[in-house]
Amino acid sequence: MKVCILGLGEVGNPTTDYISRKGFETWGYDKSAVAVRNARNIKATSNWNNIPHGQIEVHIICVSTGILVSSRPGMSSIYDASKKFGPLVSVESTVSVGTCRKIYEDIFNKSVV
Ligand SMILES: NC(=O)c1ccc[n+]([C@@H]2O[C@H](COP(=O)([O-])OP(=O)(O)OC[C@H]3O[C@@H](n4cnc5c(N)ncnc54)[C@H](O)[C@@H]3O)[C@@H](O)[C@H]2O)c1
Repeated sequence: MKVCILGLGEVGNPTTDYISRKGFETWGYDKSAVAVRNARNIKATSNWNNIPHGQIEVHIICVSTGILVSSRPGMSSIYDASKKFGPLVSVESTVSVGTCRKIYEDIFNKSVV
């Protein structure tokens, strides 16, 4: 199984390490070249086109949600990351209540029953 982690920081880096040590082919994507350089034992890139999209079965979002705005996490990176692929499997980032529903409905055009 191939897994792709978006965001290779404090959370994403050990997550990729753990998953790759479990024997899964692990890809990592980060917009920061420094974060990509620091990622070890995985195929990491800051070029989204290098990811074998059709073959990835599990996506995990670990991007930063930045400075809290009005006591809420900044959500733009979450929405940006969600638009990049199909159904989410896991969001590890700190998100506002209702975010996963909003992604499901507004980005994936699915209705929650
Ligand atoms: N670090 C912790 O102990 C901890 C604990 C609980 C929850 N969290 C949550 O996990 C999330 C990540 O935290 P962190 O500490 O790993 O942050 P971090 O700043 O260490 O790493 C985040 C990474 O995401 C990348 N990134 C941001 N936007 C991106 C985008 N649109 N596309 C690709 N890459 C992008 C950044 O370049 C950075 O390398 C946050 O939501 C945070 O609140 C962190």
